[in-house]
Amino acid sequence: MFPESLFLTCCTQVLSAQSWSGTPPCSTAREGAQTSLHCALAEGLEPLSGKYFSDCKRTWVSPRARNNKTAERLWNVSCELLGIRWE
Ligand SMILES: *[C@@H]1O[C@H](CO)[C@@H](O)[C@H](O)[C@H]1NC(C)=O
Ligand SMILES: *[C@@H]1O[C@H](CO)[C@@H](O)[C@H](O)[C@H]1NC(C)=O
Repeated sequence: MFPESLFLTCCTQVLSAQSWSGTPPCSTAREGAQTSLHCALAEGLEPLSGKYFSDCKRTWVSPRARNNKTAERLWNVSCELLGIRWE
């Protein structure tokens, strides 16, 4: 079963359209970690659980990126690649 609650509690840093064309979204690892740290540590973000963030701000993504089936497949493939099994 797809662990939806776990997925939804994660804030996701979405790569910008620019990054898909090969340009790195961040210039350093430190800068790249800022949005994840913001989502993990900032207070008051609970109502935004499961939403997308970029540059420490809420952002919107295309309908394709919000497709539940695609998200589930990404989750499955990620777990498979990492050797993680969920009961
Ligand atoms: C996708 O999953 C979310 C979270 O469970 C749910 O709220 C939403 O209605 C689903 N969307 C579709 C199109 O099934
Ligand atoms: C994800 O994995 C679960 C458990 O193996 C499976 O039931 C489900 O069909 C898979 N979903 C997709 C979209 O691959």
